[in-house]
Formats: sequence, structure tokens, C-alpha cells
Amino acid sequence: MANTAPLESFFNYVDQNQDHYVARLREAVAIPSVSADAGHREEVFRMGNWLIELFKQLGISYEAADVGTHVVDGKTLKLPPILLGTYGNDPNKKTILVYGHYDVQPALIEDGWSSDPWKLTEDSTGRLVGRGSSDDKGPIIGWLNAIEAHQKAGVEFPVNLKICFEGMEENGSEGLDDLILREANRYFKDVDAVCISDNYWLGVTKPCLTYGLRGISYFKVSVSGPGRDLHSGVFGGTVYEPMTDLVILLSKLVTTDGKILIPGVNDDVAELTDEEQETYKSIEFKLHELHSAIESQTNIFDNETRTLQARWRYPSLSIHGVEGAFSASGAKTVLPCKVSGKFSIRLVPNMDPDKITAYVEKYLKEEFAKLGSKNKLHVECLHGAKAWVASPNHWNFVAAAKAVEKVFNCKPDMTREGGSIPVTLTFQDALNKNVLLLPMGRGDDGAHSTNEKLDRFNYIQGIKLLGTYLHEVAKTT
Ligand code: BES
Ligand code: ZN
Repeated sequence: MANTAPLESFFNYVDQNQDHYVARLREAVAIPSVSADAGHREEVFRMGNWLIELFKQLGISYEAADVGTHVVDGKTLKLPPILLGTYGNDPNKKTILVYGHYDVQPALIEDGWSSDPWKLTEDSTGRLVGRGSSDDKGPIIGWLNAIEAHQKAGVEFPVNLKICFEGMEENGSEGLDDLILREANRYFKDVDAVCISDNYWLGVTKPCLTYGLRGISYFKVSVSGPGRDLHSGVFGGTVYEPMTDLVILLSKLVTTDGKILIPGVNDDVAELTDEEQETYKSIEFKLHELHSAIESQTNIFDNETRTLQARWRYPSLSIHGVEGAFSASGAKTVLPCKVSGKFSIRLVPNMDPDKITAYVEKYLKEEFAKLGSKNKLHVECLHGAKAWVASPNHWNFVAAAKAVEKVFNCKPDMTREGGSIPVTLTFQDALNKNVLLLPMGRGDDGAHSTNEKLDRFNYIQGIKLLGTYLHEVAKTT
């Protein structure tokens, strides 16, 4: 019979130290490591240093890779370090690479948070609310908590761990791909498989393993004309207004029910096979779970399978915002001289970001020409990444499924997801190893949204899950 005693001691230690782990997450959430905002860059560095301190405490050897600078709004900014940790190097053990990100999305209380987004607060049902709790501070700290719990419980760590934590994931992962290619035969050399905990369960009750993600092409379309902002009372009716042109262009990208109108974009989408259609049948997902996650019933499709397919295997186009437009409360009568619309297209297998950029540029230029405006148009792709699909039959997934059964007493759903983690494909291609996504949080955690949360249950069971997965990996041959 298998000796379950080591796992038991590990589980007991984790259960007994819940509050310590929550306090640790609270410390991390208090650092507003927003990568997309130049004003917060120092905080991203502070978060990196916080992790380095923890690496030191846990005896994880590390390098903080300096990946240079980038230019944001004409200002040169240092990129946060990519932390490369190594825990154990026993040639008789497997080596697992774990990846995660220590940067977070922006958050302002005015956006509609019910508490300060940078103060982790726990409600009566154990929801730990704070920016980054689920995406992705809870999961990355989860790995480190699992290491600590093994040490404190006196349980041998079952594998060698390589840790890659970056601070620019929410902003295009600049510098990461180059680093991975450079280090493929050095730091990443002995990696046997990769595990990423940076996604969510499909619903709120059942764990899943994820084997696919959509890619993304992110665009900025700018219309400029007047040399400065103007008074609409004095100049309205006498000049071509950039905002008017931009709104017309944005209105031509997608229909209200989500059909992309840019010629070419839908052409390369992989065919839906009968075999793939079958896979949706066994997935436990109900529309009411979607309703609770979106806090409304504004879904386009009224059946589960079509909804999942729209999320996982068809492209979508979302309009995110307009830079330079008046957006405050009140009624300012400005006529903005330059406005930039931001939109992105989620890509699915067979779609190529370069081709997508060519389609988008051609279409917007043609549509702009039709307006006969004297303004100027500029279209730019800010970043592009292909979709990723892995083999869910690999031992890496088998080990994770067994871990789910041990911790949650059920078989996980096998899912794909609609979000993007561009590095999944880089790891798969550059290291030629299987990549698994093993989520900690739930489908209604509200990543990128207001009141982002991670349930205490998911955090604590998640620490056990990550540790158990490593034990199961060690048992595979
Ligand atoms: N954790 C998400 C990725 C994710 C989202 C996985 C939804 C599964 C479901 C990640 O932090 C993220 O938000 N990524 C960005 C990537 C982009 C900036 C290249 C995204 O998907 O918008
Ligand atoms: Zn994330």
C-alpha cells in the first residue's frame, strides 16, 4: 500500500498554518505591483524584492534576471526582474518548472471596489478580497507555501523545482521570450515538464486542468488632427473631429452579438471536429455560473456548449477604451485633438498574429478613407501571441488529475480557456516540454475586475494541490 503519511503531515501543517498563509498573501497584496502603469513601476520592483526575501528564507537559490528597459509614453523605464529560482538538484528526481507573475492589474477604489483593493479583507464566507489575490499572487505564493510546509513538516520535497516568476505578464511579458530562448540550454536545461497556476476553475465547485488558451493581438488605433485640444463651442462644426472619426471606426469592428467584421480574421479558425464536439459533453458548466460571474444575464448564447466554444475556440474582439478622450464626470466641452482606441482580438489555433495585423491595418485604412476626413490615422499592434493547446494525456496531466482526486475527492474537468498567457507556447516550443495549467481560484474570482477575490478554501486546498501534484509527478515513470 502507498505510504500516505508524508502527504498527511504536509496537509496537517498547511491546515494548521492557514492564518500564516493568509497573512503572507495580505503582505503581497499590499504592494500595488501594477505593471501597466509607469507610475507604479517601483512597486513592481518592490514586489520582486519581497519574493527574493522569501526565496532567501526558504533556501531557494535565485538569479534576478535583468531584461533591460522599455519606452512608455516617451519615457525609458527599467523592466522588472525575471526571478529564476532553483530548489533542489537531485539527479534522481524529476525537475518541474513553475511559472507565475507577480505583477497585477490596476485597481482604484473609485472603480467600484467595496474595500481598499490593496488591503486584503476577508468576509464571513472566507472570500479574501484584494487585487492580485487570485491573479496571480495567491498561486505563486502557493508554490512557496508548499515548499515551506514540506520543510516545517519534515517531509522530503519530491522533485527539483525551477521557479520562473515575472513582473510584466499583464503588460505583454516584455523580455521574457528572449530570456527563455537564451536560457533554454542553461537554466531551463533539466526541466521535465512545466506547470502554471494562473487561471481559474470553470465554475465555483469543481477543479479543472487546462490544456489550451487563446492568443491575443492588441491594437491601438489613433486619429489625430488639430494641433491642440479645442473648445467645441468655438471650433465645433468647423473642423474634422478625431473623436467622431474614431467612434465610427470602432463601430465597424464587431457587431453587438460578437461577430468580427474585419475581412480575413475568421478565415483561418480551426474546424470544429466531431471529436472536439464530444469533449464538451462531459464538462460541468451551467449558465447560472456564468450569470454569477458576470453579475447579469447579458450572455449572447443561451446554451452552455456554444458559450464555452465562444470562449475557448472562436476568436473574439473587445474594445477596451479610448486614450485621450474626456472621461471624467461632469460636462466638459472639449474637442480632443488626438484619441486612440484600444481593442484586442483573442486568437485561436491556426490564427497568425502577423496576418491578423495585416487584416486589421488594411481594413481600418480602407474604412477611414471612406470617411473623407482630413485627420490622420495610425494603426499599431502593441503585442501579439498565438493560441496554445497541449496534450492532456501526458503524464504531467495524469499526475495533476490524481492530485485533484486526492485533495478534492473528484475528477477534474479538462478545460481550455479564453484568456492568454503567451509564455505557455514559448515554454512548449522552446523547451519542447509538456505544459499544464493547474488553477487555484474559481471562475467567479473576478480577475482584472473589481472586488477580485480568492476563497480561503481555494487558497489553502490549492497549496495542498500544488504540493500533491509534485508528489504525483515524482511517482510517474
Ligand atoms: N491569468 C490571466 C490569464 C487567464 C485569463 C487565464 C483567463 C485563463 C483565463 C493572465 O494574467 C492575463 O490576464 N493575461 C493577459 C495576457 C495579455 C496581457 C497578453 C490577458 O489574457 O489579457
Ligand atoms: Zn494572471
